[in-house]
Amino acid sequence: MALRNIVEEGDPILRKHCREVDEVNDRIRMILDDMVETMREANGVGLAAPQIGIIRRMFVANPDPESGEAYYFVNPEIEYLEGSQESEEGCLSVPGCMGLVERPEKVKIKGLGRDGQEQEYTFEGFPAIVICHEFDHLEGILYTDKAKEMYEITNNEGQEE
Ligand code: NI
Repeated sequence: MALRNIVEEGDPILRKHCREVDEVNDRIRMILDDMVETMREANGVGLAAPQIGIIRRMFVANPDPESGEAYYFVNPEIEYLEGSQESEEGCLSVPGCMGLVERPEKVKIKGLGRDGQEQEYTFEGFPAIVICHEFDHLEGILYTDKAKEMYEITNNEGQEE
């Protein structure tokens, strides 16, 4: 595995509509593994392929930092959204900032896993925020587009996506 460079806001790659992954093969698995390593090294809770310069529909997430379990989403589709919640978000591609964003409380999502098999999950609360944030990256959307308020942060304590 290898650490990848994280693309930062202002780079047009982050604004692209990502294309579907044709097949979950060894090359894709290598990228997914690099994404997990890069996310963990940066203390992030999620990382989408465009954030490492790959304009494909896939992201990884660690929505439960206590378990540390990585989730893999290739060609994800959101099946339904429910409710709303508001919280402060950060993004590994937007260092030094946090913003107040409204998101669904609950999300049901399906997609291919690291093994290429279809899987489906329902997330609520904080994990739902992470999943919606990462999914937005595949559409070229940053949380800064949705934030009601933005704050500068001077330390590195926030969990970033
Ligand atoms: Ni992000």
